[in-house]
Amino acid sequence: MNSILVVDDELSMREFLEILLTKEGYTVSFAASGGEACSILDRETFDLVITDIRMDDIDGIGILRKAKEVSPGTPVIIISAFATAETAVEAMRDGAYDYIPKPFNTAEFIKIVQDALHKKTISRDEEDHLKKGYYFGCLVGESPEMKRIYDLIRRVAKTKTNILISGESGTGKELVARAIHGESQRKDQPFVVINCGGIPETLIESELFGYKKGAFTGASADKGGLFEAGDGGTVFFDEIGELSPAIQVKLLRVIQEKTFTRIGETEERKVDVRFISATNKNLEQEVMDRGFREDLFFRLNVIEISIPPLRERKGDLPLLAHHFLVKYSRELGKDIKKVSAYAMDILSQYPFPGNVRELENIIERSVALETSNIVLPQSLTLSNFKKVRIREDRRRTDLTHEGINLPKAMADIEREYILKAMEMTYGSQKKAAELLGITYESLRHRLSKLKI
Ligand SMILES: Nc1ncnc2c1ncn2[C@@H]1O[C@H](COP(=O)(O)OP(=O)(O)OP(=O)(O)O)[C@@H](O)[C@H]1O
Ligand SMILES: [Mg+2]
Repeated sequence: MNSILVVDDELSMREFLEILLTKEGYTVSFAASGGEACSILDRETFDLVITDIRMDDIDGIGILRKAKEVSPGTPVIIISAFATAETAVEAMRDGAYDYIPKPFNTAEFIKIVQDALHKKTISRDEEDHLKKGYYFGCLVGESPEMKRIYDLIRRVAKTKTNILISGESGTGKELVARAIHGESQRKDQPFVVINCGGIPETLIESELFGYKKGAFTGASADKGGLFEAGDGGTVFFDEIGELSPAIQVKLLRVIQEKTFTRIGETEERKVDVRFISATNKNLEQEVMDRGFREDLFFRLNVIEISIPPLRERKGDLPLLAHHFLVKYSRELGKDIKKVSAYAMDILSQYPFPGNVRELENIIERSVALETSNIVLPQSLTLSNFKKVRIREDRRRTDLTHEGINLPKAMADIEREYILKAMEMTYGSQKKAAELLGITYESLRHRLSKLKI
């Protein structure tokens, strides 16, 4: 059973937290002052410390330091009134797990407590992660979708079958191609990337097939092409949908006959390559709509590996975020160890139109911007996205004998609904008003009233 120390000089708050936390099955101890907390911390170790920030003798920051000194692995959650939010952010810099502004929603509070206790177990389990195959080559991910992909890679790698990898931009198509190559018997042979969208039409033929000296103006010497460079290995055609019809015919021949000729030569050359192609379009649709050759499509697409967008495998987010955090902290010489629970929550609601590449950029930027040792919401730069924490449970069960301010509570709920609607419609006020069942004018009025 998890043990929690609650430090607060207000009796009503201690009573409230006692009811709340024991109901969840935690063992709770209490300290009514900073001094008392310090002497308890000297005697006992806890799985979690929850402390108010403002106390007369030793404040929340003092408790945090004490807790970290006696047991560095114990997470500390700071509770603060709005006025002390700045100090709470400071506390995060000193290694607090999270801060919870007062007044808070009980469901949200419990979730943070659970996460904090869970995280404590996770860091212990991180090494096991590696062993369990949550990484594959350079691929990171533990969602069922990624595990299925690892499995597929393992099964197809040893064959010579041509593979088509499909997925939105930034989902990791090239990494999957490299992982297949790395698992194959060709792994010590070349892996050649051909970016079909990036090479001008006029150059692609000579790039691919090479040429004989004098074949065209500028061909001042014999030159081998990319197929020759990839002989014995794997050739990766990125953005295969961009290939012109003329090149498609020539490529089909290479795949079928395993031969090609350099431009300006007649002699056929043999080549042994495995083809992996990637597309962020629906290639089958391209066959129907835009005349991508059907015969070539079938040749390339013997096995299809389709990578789902990141927003459909949110389970990979924590591991990926951590992976990039470690990478960029090291690269930029910083000591940032984690993404705050707040920031993680925001990331988990973001749709990631640019997929893993976008997540990587977001983390890199936040590592560069962050001045504390933890990634806070302030340093996340998400395009067109309001950083709001949406409360999942809106039953306001936090009425205590201290009382609440009903108009303010109602305004809070209104605010949450509006922010949620704006988020769901990516900021379109017209659509948000529709979702909320109010007029556009009424929404505008509320937005300005609530200063959103
Ligand atoms: N599962 C993953 N684990 C670790 N890094 C990943 C993963 N998926 C993508 N990345 C990273 O995201 C970036 C984009 O990956 P990659 O180039 O393979 O995507 P792509 O699908 O080929 O994108 P595009 O269609 O835009 O070419 C790279 O920096 C890559 O390292
Ligand atoms: Mg790519």
